[in-house]
Amino acid sequence: MLRPPNGSHGNQPIRLKTKELMESLRYDPSAARVLIDDADWDTLAEPLQTARQQTLDDVCLMQSGDIPDEKQPLDAGFIEYPRTLLESGQLAALAGSAERLRSQVDRLLVLGIGGSYMGLRALFEGLCDPFHNELSRDERRGVPRLYFEGNNLDNDTVSALLQLLQRHCSDPEDLLQRWGIVVISKSGGTLETAAAFRLFRQALETYYGADSPRSTQLVVPITGEEGKLRSFSNERGYPDVFPVPDGIGGRFSVLTPVGLYPAAALGIDVRELLRGAVDMTDQFRSQPRGKNPVLDYVATCHLLERERGMNIRVLSTWGNRLEAVGLWYDQLLSESLGKQEQGATPITGVNTRDLHSRGQQHQQGARDKLITNVIIDKPATDSVTLPQVPESLDQDGLNQLAGRGMPDLLRAAFEGTNKAYADDRRPTADIRLPELNAYCLGQLLQMLMLATVVEGRLIGINPYGQPGVEDYKRNMSEILFQS
Ligand code: PA5
Repeated sequence: MLRPPNGSHGNQPIRLKTKELMESLRYDPSAARVLIDDADWDTLAEPLQTARQQTLDDVCLMQSGDIPDEKQPLDAGFIEYPRTLLESGQLAALAGSAERLRSQVDRLLVLGIGGSYMGLRALFEGLCDPFHNELSRDERRGVPRLYFEGNNLDNDTVSALLQLLQRHCSDPEDLLQRWGIVVISKSGGTLETAAAFRLFRQALETYYGADSPRSTQLVVPITGEEGKLRSFSNERGYPDVFPVPDGIGGRFSVLTPVGLYPAAALGIDVRELLRGAVDMTDQFRSQPRGKNPVLDYVATCHLLERERGMNIRVLSTWGNRLEAVGLWYDQLLSESLGKQEQGATPITGVNTRDLHSRGQQHQQGARDKLITNVIIDKPATDSVTLPQVPESLDQDGLNQLAGRGMPDLLRAAFEGTNKAYADDRRPTADIRLPELNAYCLGQLLQMLMLATVVEGRLIGINPYGQPGVEDYKRNMSEILFQS
């Protein structure tokens, strides 16, 4: 596992050795490069370098506190936050509180929407057991089950969760019947989350007693320094409240308490997540094109869009566990760059599943797509192999493959699919993770966040803020509060 060498923090870039690079996330655009003119690739070097510099300079600009109007909003804090957190005492406080909560509840509700929800979902689905909630507490190694709410206004799912809690939790003295809430909202005013918080808070206070210590100890708000949720939390006296740091926007906040606190409560190795992110930032800062996943990814995506009109980006994950990373990235890219009538459209694919739904269109539909595969080299579990059956039962003909593992079959599907795309001159690029672990996931998330900002700077779009989302919020408020 790649770790920063001692004393390599601060402004000193970490120099990655060849072996370490092999163990890290890799980006390989070679199959897409055949559709990119060498001259275009070369000419982009300078603007890309400028965009990288601007992205990094923005961190200093924020620290100076002197942000010019044309740069507003500027939320570049996510770039150095993982390093700051690793070096400061704040992580210990967060981990300590998460451990306390974990030891006191068997069910954890996480309330939040958009950037206050999707990052954790990506971490949970990527790093926890796919059947987490169905395991016993021992099998879960003492961490709670997880439920998401506050990310919609769906009567049936809210009602089902309230009923589930009522059915399974009747004795608050029994750990297996205790539940708690982590409520996440940077602004503190998002209606979906606020409504869910009010509903589940009422259920929680009814269960434990409104004046009982548990009714405050088992609720952990994560919110900005100001806003309605912050004021309410102060008023209610919740002992543990964590900040969404200033200068980090929702969809860039997965590696702040927003994603890290509940991740730590689930037993995810948050230090490794942060180390992965720090290493990716250092690689971004110090490495030339060809060894720099962020710059190479941006160059490939940008040139295929600019020169060939490929403005649909399919993040094609091989295996099930990265689907939520894809959904998180859908939000990151579309909310960040979908402005001023620009911005590519992201789509998440999960293969081989989606070869049977989207595959036809990707192979023969409009030539408007760049497919970026995300491949995990080594599964987390031992290979599951196809058994041999008696010949009389071999109607499916699979005895020929007996002894071959699922990874083998997946590899054949991957190679076959990408060969078919290449044969038809449809571009693909690969992001390869040696394993699906916290370190590599930290690298991947940071890579995609940095790439989004660099591309924004390259095309003259401010990647931060989401002015368009305010329109629906304003209309909804008018309908609800003024009618
Ligand atoms: O990226 C963003 O900023 C948004 O997606 C927000 O995360 C989302 O709207 C939720 O906002 P809040 O955390 O303020 O409730």
